Formats: sequence, C-alpha cells, structure tokens
Amino acid sequence: MKLKAKSYSLALETSCDDTAVAILEHRSATDHRVISAGRSSQFATHAPFGGVVPSLAARDHAANAPALLKAVWSQAIKKIPGLLPRKLKHIAYTASPGLMPCLLIGRTVAETLAWTWQRPLLGVDHIASHVASALAAPELKGKGYSLPAVALVVSGGHTSLFKVTKYNRMTEIGRTVDDAAGEAFDKVARLLGLPHPGGPALEKLARTGNPTAFNFPRPMLKDESLNFSFAGLKTAVLYTLRDQKLRATRYALRADLAASFQAAAIDVLVAKTLRASQTHKAKTIIVAGGVAANQALRSQFTERIKSLKPQPRLVIPPMDLCTDNAVMVAIAGAIMTYYSP
Ligand code: KG4
Ligand code: ZN
Repeated sequence: MKLKAKSYSLALETSCDDTAVAILEHRSATDHRVISAGRSSQFATHAPFGGVVPSLAARDHAANAPALLKAVWSQAIKKIPGLLPRKLKHIAYTASPGLMPCLLIGRTVAETLAWTWQRPLLGVDHIASHVASALAAPELKGKGYSLPAVALVVSGGHTSLFKVTKYNRMTEIGRTVDDAAGEAFDKVARLLGLPHPGGPALEKLARTGNPTAFNFPRPMLKDESLNFSFAGLKTAVLYTLRDQKLRATRYALRADLAASFQAAAIDVLVAKTLRASQTHKAKTIIVAGGVAANQALRSQFTERIKSLKPQPRLVIPPMDLCTDNAVMVAIAGAIMTYYSP
C-alpha cells in the first residue's frame, strides 16, 4: 500500500530499554514531520544491575506503553484536531533485531492497536530505522541526502557500515567482529566505576581527561577490511587499570583512561568510515545509533571529513534521535511504503 502525499503513521519502539511512541506526518519519501513523540527510559530499573536485564525491560515496556500511547495520542489530536485513527496509514513497530521479550511486547501492543483500529501493521528493521533517522536532520529540510551514502550505525548492539544506494536499500560492507562500540563504552564505564548507562557517563568523565595520556590500541585500523573490533581495546583498559591499581581511585587518572579509551574508539570509527566513503564514492556520510550522540565523535567526524576530496556531506541526526526512539521507526516504516510496488 503506497503512501500518498501527507499521510500519518503511528510507530512504536521497544527493542531494548526505551519505550517510545511517535506520530508523524509524511509528505514525501524524504519529508517527515513529527506531530508528537514520547519516550520513557528505564535507567532506574537497570542501574542496580549495571546493564539491561531483558525480563525487567519487557516488564517496564508493558507497564509504560499504555500511558505513553495515551499521552502521545492526546498531544497529536491537540495539534491536528481532525486526526482520527482511520487516518493512520499503518501502525509501525520494531520487528527485529533486539531483545526478544522486549520486541514481543512492542509487537503485541502494535497488533492490538492495528486490530482495534483496523489499520495495517508494519514490522520495521531496527538498523534500517537508525539509518532512516538521518532524514530527520533539520539541515536537510525534508529534501533528503545525495546517494550513494555510507552509513555507520554505532550503538550498544551494533557497529556496522552500510552502503546506501536507495533510501530503502542498504548493503552491509563492514561490521564488528566482536563487541559493538557502545557495548565497549558501557563495559569500560563499568570498569571505571561509572553508573549505567555507561556511554554518556564515560563521555562526561572523558571531557576532563587527557586523550593522549594512554596510547591504547586502534584495533583493525590497518586491516584492509571495513570490519571493526573493540574487545581488545576494552581488555587493554582492563590491564592498564590493573597495573595502575593503587592509583586507580584517583579521579584524574580515571578521566585520562576514559579520554584515552574514547579517543582510540573514535579514531577507528572515523578512519574506517572515511575509508569506506572513499572506496564506495559516497556523496553522503551518515552516522547514527546511540554512540552518535557522543559529542567527541560528532566533532571528530566534522573535522576529519574535511580531508576528503571530494568532500561528502556529513549527516548526523539530532542527539535525541541517535539513541533508540520511535520517530526513526516511523520514518523507516514510511520509506518502506513509499517504495512498495
Ligand atoms: O541506539 P541505542 O539507544 O540502542 C541500541 O540499539 O543499542 O544505543 C545505546 C548505546 C549504549 O551502549 C550507550 O552507552 C551508547 O549507545 N551511548 C553513548 C552515548 N550515548 C549513548 N556512547 C558514547 N557516548 C554517548 N554520549
Ligand atoms: Zn538502537
């Protein structure tokens, strides 16, 4: 069922520890406007365990989704008084990949809505959603980006490079062979005694540290493939911490470790993405996923892309659309329908 100009859709995201709902207006394959959106995070639930516990995450999704849906729907009908459920072209939800118990809650809620409102149901790929979040970058003004593009999806569950040849077509050209970059941020944060979620806490600590204090390895930087590896880097921090045992409680030392780890991880992410962009003659580089919220990563990309000739355009979604959200699910769902036969 092809979308016509100015369609609405409702989207749900529950793949990990964020319950999110969004209602968007879609004007074209590249022009998507948020009518209302909401998210409830579960930091307090998982903090005592130092990581996401799938069964507790699913329980929270089930508890939070109804109130969130009501709030997002009420906000939407205030903005668009004539918005009725039958005006929604479909109900989109994250089908995979993700934590199975969490995905099942999202699917059940979406199916219930679709059945009650008699609207079509649309399962959306989570990684395609992260790539689709680039279309929400305000500087694109709804006009999309030039193709081909190379997209780095860097999150807690994934670190992959894609060649994007059409807005609905992407091929994986590189991936992590072990840990995802976000996972490495989270594990190193835990080693440094930082609270969950680790990525943002590590970034904050790193701001006060010296990124050249420790020369951590840049795994697979010289390797010809476009693959990544972050497990060795995490272990290098572990061994350094062990060697520095007596001093590891010092704030300045922990800040230096955080900054040096972050510098090494970012160095590899940026270098491989720029290399992929040159190899595949990309006109656009997209950086998406939770780790793309990292300010140091964003500024390294902004700086180092200048060395490429010709210089591709850099598109990084706004910070709140880097971590899991339902706006990106709505955009990815709309793209699927725009290009459906
Ligand atoms: O995209 P996302 O919300 O969920 C997955 O699909 O995995 O990404 C979450 C990941 C976590 O590992 C989190 O620590 C990391 O993104 N993250 C960050 C920052 N904000 C979130 N990592 C580094 N710096 C940040 N500012
Ligand atoms: Zn994600």
